Amino acid sequence: MTDDDHGRLLPSAAVTSLAEHLQLGGGAGLQRALELEPDEVIAEIERAGLRGRGGAGFPTATKWRGVKATAAEHSSPLTLVANAAEGEPGTYKDRVLIEQEPYAFLEGICIALHASGAERAHIGIKAKFTGPVQRLSEALGEIGDAAWPGADRIDIVTGPDEYLFGEETAMLEVIEGKLPMPRIVKPFEAGLGATTTRPNPTIVNNVETLSHAAWILAHGADWFRGAGTDTTPGTMLFTVVGDVAHPGTYELPLGTPLRTLLIDIAGAEDLKAAYSGVSSTVITPDHLDVPLGFDEMQEAGLGMGSGGFIVYDTSRSIVDVLAVLVHFLSVESCGQCNACKLGNLEMAEILAKVQRGEATQGDLERLLRRNQTVTDMNRCFLPVGSQLLVGSTVQAFVDEFVATVERGEPTPADLPTPLIDDIDEDTGEVTYPSRYHLKQPDWSYADVEPIEERRQALREQR
Ligand SMILES: Cc1cc2nc3c(=O)[nH]c(=O)nc-3n(C[C@H](O)[C@H](O)[C@H](O)COP(=O)(O)O)c2cc1C
Ligand code: SF4
Repeated sequence: MTDDDHGRLLPSAAVTSLAEHLQLGGGAGLQRALELEPDEVIAEIERAGLRGRGGAGFPTATKWRGVKATAAEHSSPLTLVANAAEGEPGTYKDRVLIEQEPYAFLEGICIALHASGAERAHIGIKAKFTGPVQRLSEALGEIGDAAWPGADRIDIVTGPDEYLFGEETAMLEVIEGKLPMPRIVKPFEAGLGATTTRPNPTIVNNVETLSHAAWILAHGADWFRGAGTDTTPGTMLFTVVGDVAHPGTYELPLGTPLRTLLIDIAGAEDLKAAYSGVSSTVITPDHLDVPLGFDEMQEAGLGMGSGGFIVYDTSRSIVDVLAVLVHFLSVESCGQCNACKLGNLEMAEILAKVQRGEATQGDLERLLRRNQTVTDMNRCFLPVGSQLLVGSTVQAFVDEFVATVERGEPTPADLPTPLIDDIDEDTGEVTYPSRYHLKQPDWSYADVEPIEERRQALREQR
């Protein structure tokens, strides 16, 4: 992808100082924003058609304007949260952006502070991302020394490793010093430190969204619309891992077909199934001509999520694939809603039973029945993701599920949970957390024997 041989967001080499950022044209976006009225900045973001890159593709200008209106209506302050949790399996792009160009991200935050009138900005990032946290702290120090307007109102909040930390209402809880448990009320209605009289509505935006905002202000809405589609303009960062020759993070114009990303660039061969994160429907070879875009993928019955693709080839058992993804969701569900926690746990157990070669056709029917109710009374989107994942995968591969049950033999059960710890830039080697299989449904870690031995012990007890 290329604007002068590099991407719009990803530079050709890591930007190591604020001076380098300025040499690349950085700083111009903030300067222009400060020359405009706040509402004019929002109008420019709206003309650009920027949509959130955190998963839902919500129009950024609409979010900023809506939160401002709520704050004005209640004479309340408002706050900004930059979501750098990056907990979606298969996704590894916010950390790359922070390591490669932290200044554009921070510039986007300063622009959003000006445009929205937010009092403060908090960056929520996992404590375990030590490299990116360090890089951000250094860059924040530099823009503070350079007296960038807003720099003194930004802080970094480090949070837990749980998936739900990235869910926007759970992130507010963490910033308030609590566990990552999603709230019922959305941040744009009641945000950080909300009271009954002061809702303090909060804008939550992803790292990539805010980085785009900086370059949109620098180069203009028309420049941004020079790539992408009418409804999803611009470029986006995509991650591809799994059964591919070239795992990595790639910046592409939206509208690019899935085939280009998965086959031509990442080098998938014999593709069987792919997923964008764990909260979407399965992608099969029939979908390869679908363009990457929030609306385009939705029209094809798919979801783009945060653009992190996990690829499985025809050597894989689809039962293993679904089992590892549902196990993740069942562990990460927080348990505030019974149907979500118990439903995901039951589906994970049924799939483990199929993997052991001990299931009956009745178990498959139970899986589908449970999947219908897993979203009952849900506070957050997590079980909606499970429902899409399980329903679409069983539907697309029903013959293989039935045949695996009929065979009654164990499957290989050798797939890692595709949370990404690291992708080595030089070798392309992907590192996954080695202890995830020991994580318990209450989020503690068992320090007992590996899961295979536990399964064996369970079998012997029966
Ligand atoms: C279970 C769950 C996990 C999520 N994890 C992340 C995450 O790690 N990073 C992120 O930016 N958004 C995540 N989101 C989406 C956020 O809730 C929110 O929509 C997003 O940060 C808004 O930013 P945007 O408008 O710039 O896309 C998650 C959502 C759910 C339901
Ligand atoms: S829907 Fe699931 S993950 Fe979301 S709050 Fe309820 S129990 Fe927790």
